[in-house]
Amino acid sequence: MPSANENSQIMRIHLSNNANIAPNTAQITNSPLRFATPIEWVDTVMADFDTFLQDHAAAEKKASSMAMSMISHYPDRIVLVEAMAELAVEELNHFREVLKWLHKRDIQLTADNKDHYVIAMRKHMRNGSDVYLLDRLLIGGIIEARGCERFGMVAEALPTGDLQDFYRAITDSEEKHYQLFIHLAHQYFAVDIVNERLNTLLDVEAEITADLIISAALH
Ligand SMILES: [Fe+2]
Ligand SMILES: [Fe+2]
Repeated sequence: MPSANENSQIMRIHLSNNANIAPNTAQITNSPLRFATPIEWVDTVMADFDTFLQDHAAAEKKASSMAMSMISHYPDRIVLVEAMAELAVEELNHFREVLKWLHKRDIQLTADNKDHYVIAMRKHMRNGSDVYLLDRLLIGGIIEARGCERFGMVAEALPTGDLQDFYRAITDSEEKHYQLFIHLAHQYFAVDIVNERLNTLLDVEAEITADLIISAALH
């Protein structure tokens, strides 16, 4: 059964409204990331935008699936279930929007490629029910923060127009998703435990990202 505290916060999670983030949430206005994506990455993306769009579509689809898998794994965590249900819908909506851009350009979806960044991050999820939940939430959040950084770079590189507006909206959305995962971590774990593990995982993520091969893909 959820705690009274958990129940009292159920209605406070709304992906589309920062004002509803609970007071103990780490309020992130600047990127928490510790490795800045090199400009060569966005140059590579802009040189092969069709391929990037295909990869972006796959990433949104996987993000929605990930949210649904959290629901399956933690059916008794009411705050988490509600938040992940909203997130799954929002990510699927992103997928649908990217799909429209693909089809406007007469491009099809491709089979999903392995995402080496996500695979490398997931290797840092520890065994044990509590720490596994904490790591899933924090790694989920960091992946959102990286998406926010990179979609923001794409938005800046695009010419003024509907596609730029779309990527600006996606950037804002992924920042909120980062905040949501951090909020959930604080929902279930003490502040010092969250902060210590987040600190470690941000270092890990910086190393993983620095080693990525640059391609016209999100990671
Ligand atoms: Fe998304
Ligand atoms: Fe997201």
